[in-house]
Amino acid sequence: MPSNSITYFSPAKINLFLNVLQKRPDGYHELETIMQTLDFGDDIQIVFGKNQGIEIHCDHPSVPRDTSNLVWKAIECFYRASEIKNPGISITLRKRIPMGSGLGGGSSNAVTVLKALNQRHSFPLSDLNLHEIAAMLGSDTNFFLNIGTWFCTGRGEHLIRKIESRRWTFLLLFPGFESSTQKVYGRFLFDLTKHPSHHSLPLESSLSQGTLEELEKYIHNNLRAPFLSCYPQVKPLLGLIERELSIAKATTCEKAKKVCVSGSGSTLFLICDDDSDASFWMNRFRQKKMKVDGVIAHTQDCL
Ligand code: C5P
Repeated sequence: MPSNSITYFSPAKINLFLNVLQKRPDGYHELETIMQTLDFGDDIQIVFGKNQGIEIHCDHPSVPRDTSNLVWKAIECFYRASEIKNPGISITLRKRIPMGSGLGGGSSNAVTVLKALNQRHSFPLSDLNLHEIAAMLGSDTNFFLNIGTWFCTGRGEHLIRKIESRRWTFLLLFPGFESSTQKVYGRFLFDLTKHPSHHSLPLESSLSQGTLEELEKYIHNNLRAPFLSCYPQVKPLLGLIERELSIAKATTCEKAKKVCVSGSGSTLFLICDDDSDASFWMNRFRQKKMKVDGVIAHTQDCL
């Protein structure tokens, strides 16, 4: 008999490549993106059969505990599609992934619970069923049905190919505000003279075999400009970080590290040599009294 209380890890993701291709008649944007799950994420405790219906608990005040939470919707979709009676589900979310941070926290939580329910009830839903439910919940939700590095298209929901990646270290930097995905996409400008076509293949090969400098060179996100335009308050912080990176590299011949944006923001990230390099930079930003929190994370399911 399975235990009535199980805790699952719900990983964050970053976008290493995000190319907006066109606006679609349904209002969404057609994309090419490479997403990567991280070993940084939330913990979700699921208790079965304690109370009737659905309950969501969370220590974070801005996380909804009602039907507007994607986790709630995922539970409802699962029991409707499987035609199994809900035995009573109590969810406790231990949030580490900031809200509105471009790290897919809400989508990851919903899909982690969806997979957990399917496992608990001995897999009544096929992979196809799970993908259909995930696509109804959001655009980056399908990605979380798998782990690792994936090239995705459509709204982001079509997982086209898995990419072999070696283990990379990232310093994730949280500027302390939420970014609205809808608002950032709404600010995207289709100007072909300013947005030359970008290809993901050089990034894909540098993920498995390249150097850090090559990876930085091919990382691409054309939501960066609309994110900065929607949230100009991040520009001074970005300027300070870039200044520190270039001062530190001034004595060497190396190029300064690049500050990247994940998805529609607000997370900024650096690719680092290893944990001590990432700690060095975090300490340096703290010494300079920058208003930014940071965590070290690594690629999950890598070579
Ligand atoms: O799918 P999700 O709920 O994450 O998307 C939030 C909003 O972001 C959508 O309502 C849409 O305005 C925008 N979006 C988009 N194109 C995408 C993904 C999201 O325009 N590929």
